[in-house]
Amino acid sequence: MIGASHGIGLAMVRDLLTRPQVTRVYAASRQALLSDELNTLASDQVERLQVLSVDSTREADIVRLANEVRERDQRLHWLINSAGMLHDTARNIRPEKRLEQVDTAQLEALFRLNAFAPILLAKHFLPLLNHDQPACFASLSARVGSIADNQLGGWYSYRASKAAQNQFIRTFAIEAQRRAPNLTCLALHPGTTDTGLSKPFQKNVTEGKLFSPAFVAEHLLDLVFTRPATDSGRFLAWDGSEIPW
Ligand SMILES: NC(=O)c1ccc[n+]([C@@H]2O[C@H](COP(=O)([O-])OP(=O)(O)OC[C@H]3O[C@@H](n4cnc5c(N)ncnc54)[C@H](OP(=O)(O)O)[C@@H]3O)[C@@H](O)[C@H]2O)c1
Repeated sequence: MIGASHGIGLAMVRDLLTRPQVTRVYAASRQALLSDELNTLASDQVERLQVLSVDSTREADIVRLANEVRERDQRLHWLINSAGMLHDTARNIRPEKRLEQVDTAQLEALFRLNAFAPILLAKHFLPLLNHDQPACFASLSARVGSIADNQLGGWYSYRASKAAQNQFIRTFAIEAQRRAPNLTCLALHPGTTDTGLSKPFQKNVTEGKLFSPAFVAEHLLDLVFTRPATDSGRFLAWDGSEIPW
């Protein structure tokens, strides 16, 4: 799990540890080793939960992570990328409301995490996910990354970086059909979820449409665990419905 220290990623780690078929979970993010929640979970399950520090915008970190997993386990059955960014006060990053707010540094930051990181994870983890059992590579995207569904405009860097991620996942899925026939590659939309990422925008959410991280984690993991390789290359919402690209 990449992006495991907060929000949906942390909720998925909690959920994974309740599933008996899961023998080991690797939980990674920049601040993962400083997360009280992850450290508490790990102290209860020393062998089953490995907490690792990784900045997925750095390819060298991804290579190191893949090597650390390979040293312990010969293969992985699921890789889930939940790391993503919409805003970052420390870096003065916020979703653009108008064209004049488009900024090179913000575009670069969001594309590095939301688009480049997922395909670099695919590049370095394909050998671990390619084996004779079902496996899944899932990356959290967002409905606002859908070009067909874009009615409102705005949020240039977030929308475009998620659209780029979607194209990377779709392209990877096509190559994986040939090279790793048991692998399902999915772009997943979690729905609006009560995390730090959505916090500044929650007042506009219709009542009953703001999901808890635990609810979303359970639904997304059900997709990761059950979707066969024939579903590879799809963009799915938390409830399994298809989202147009
Ligand atoms: N929440 C929503 O309503 C919503 C809606 C649609 C789509 N999504 C997508 O769902 C995903 C998860 O969102 P969330 O709401 O759970 O976000 P969140 O609460 O902000 O958590 C983001 C996670 O990503 C990690 N992260 C950030 N930069 C990283 C980096 N460079 N390397 C490794 N990890 C990094 C963070 O940990 P560290 O700080 O420790 O690195 C954190 O664990 C994102 O891709 C988001 O775009 C969310």
